Amino acid sequence: MRRKLAAGNWKMNGTASALTELGNLAYSCKSAKAEVLICPPATLLYRAANVCVDSKVSIGAQDCHNATYGAHTGDLSAEMLHDAGATAVILGHSERRADHGETDETVRAKAKTAIAAGLTAIICVGETLNDREAGKTLDVVRAQLAGSLPDDTSGTTVVVAYEPVWAIGTGKVPTVEQIAEVHNDLRASLVKRFGGETANAIRLLYGGSVKAGNAKEIFAVAHVDGALVGGASLKAADFAPIVAALDASA
Ligand code: PGA
Repeated sequence: MRRKLAAGNWKMNGTASALTELGNLAYSCKSAKAEVLICPPATLLYRAANVCVDSKVSIGAQDCHNATYGAHTGDLSAEMLHDAGATAVILGHSERRADHGETDETVRAKAKTAIAAGLTAIICVGETLNDREAGKTLDVVRAQLAGSLPDDTSGTTVVVAYEPVWAIGTGKVPTVEQIAEVHNDLRASLVKRFGGETANAIRLLYGGSVKAGNAKEIFAVAHVDGALVGGASLKAADFAPIVAALDASA
């Protein structure tokens, strides 16, 4: 059985005052069955982990460097993030692929270091609108999956998030059929590469404009084991109903 996961990505949002929201979320999720993860900016990691100690909410980071230490001004290693209280790290988010030119190779290298540091790597894949309109969605997602996942992928080390770029922050959501098509294909690719036992333990999240209002129908799709949520993770009042919808779908 794959444990459901509701992950929130705060992106470049939040200063100390946002910790109150996190406390509210921890309170709202005190009986959650699903795993709840919030990925605040790195500046808040340590304090966020303290706010969530003894709660159902764990804390993750949004990126890490692929090296373990060294002369990389401004970067953070997976070990540092783990030391600050992170249990997971988002890697290869489309905003990092676009803003920082991250390739599948970069993402795979980062994932290897993250796993070695004891973090779960949440690896993002997803097509652009051009890809989709050109009928290339499955080809693009398969190539990203093949290139970004390290060989030591397992159900405990890796989570895959399918995030169509055109659905992120736009309010546009694929149809449940479109989500199902990609998630089925992701599962099949994982089975081919890692074998059924490992593949069936890897959680597949959907991300892109998930809100309380659409969570239920998305979570009813086969092979959707949870969500990676941006905007609607910033407020406890928006995120807690998504966690509740996930619990209800289990
Ligand atoms: P969104 O972001 O929920 O605001 O669309 C999702 C993401 O980027 O992970």
